Amino acid sequence: MGEVDPTFIQDVEHRPKLTITEAEGIPVIDLSTLNSPDISTEKNCKELASLVAEVKNACKKWGFFQVINHGVSLECREKIDLASRKFFALSKVEKRRVKRDELNSMGYYDTELTKNVRDWKEVFDFTVENPTMIPLSHEPDDKELKELHTQWPDYPPELREVCEEYVQEVQKLSYKLLELISLSLGLSAKRMNGFFKDQTSFVRLNHYPPCPIPHLALGVGRHKDAGGLTILAQDDIGGLEVRRKTDGEWIRVKPTPDAYIINVGDTIQVWSNDEYESVEHRVVVNSERERFSIPFFFNPSHYTWIEPLEELVNEKKPAKYKAYNWGMLFTHRKNSNFKKRDDENLQI
Ligand code: SIN
Ligand code: FE2
Repeated sequence: MGEVDPTFIQDVEHRPKLTITEAEGIPVIDLSTLNSPDISTEKNCKELASLVAEVKNACKKWGFFQVINHGVSLECREKIDLASRKFFALSKVEKRRVKRDELNSMGYYDTELTKNVRDWKEVFDFTVENPTMIPLSHEPDDKELKELHTQWPDYPPELREVCEEYVQEVQKLSYKLLELISLSLGLSAKRMNGFFKDQTSFVRLNHYPPCPIPHLALGVGRHKDAGGLTILAQDDIGGLEVRRKTDGEWIRVKPTPDAYIINVGDTIQVWSNDEYESVEHRVVVNSERERFSIPFFFNPSHYTWIEPLEELVNEKKPAKYKAYNWGMLFTHRKNSNFKKRDDENLQI
């Protein structure tokens, strides 16, 4: 194992197989209907209905899908990708100066644990700099506010601007997807939008360096996303694996140029009262090539209480979850530790 720190080593049952099972099956959904200027024509209504059906099938079967013709400009994506590559090319010493702020988790870090095993990656997180979006349990004082504004690295100088531009575009896509998902659950399109008014969403820049022990470690260990939706840009290397619901097999998501990979998180699982499930996924690394990815975590406002939507609860399908507060969960970073309603030890 040479120099590798043992905190990276996965238990035997969680080590990746390096032979790839690639899923043709993870659907690629074309969103061009949504870009049409007149969504209300009869033709477009039909197209929208079939789009909603595609989304429903994908959410049911995989909990994951990819989207193309999504409206996020390629130029904007290329700019953030390039800036991310420049940032991660800095020395460790320089990157560590951009310290992660425990208060809101913005900044750089390289010691993320998933299920107590260290991930083979380094990360830079950022959110729009609006303190009302930060899930504090109190009003931030002057010192905290100052800290909220000191997380941007000096290099590359364009990083902040390209990140903020990217957030604007990817948020628009997130709302489109949220509305499609809402329709696919038989709800009105904007039923869930209000939960995201003061959203706690953030973007993560991920860098997975080449790994000398790809059969023993993972870029990100198996986990589910706790929030609403994740909108992921992955590069052409590949490595994201999704747990297939039918047989528990790990399936590699084949990179599709300029597509985004979408998955529903625990929050949508709860709102939908288990109609849709948040599915486990992980990242496999390789010994030759570094990989970059950029997930956007579309998360509700910190004061939102998450519980099954009343329209989706009835005698046949009683509420499967007790209400829990998103801000408390988010602040305590209890990733996907929500518990079933009949578990009296609900802790968030
Ligand atoms: C994640 O699930 O957090 C990362 C996904 C990826 O890098 O592909
Ligand atoms: Fe994830």
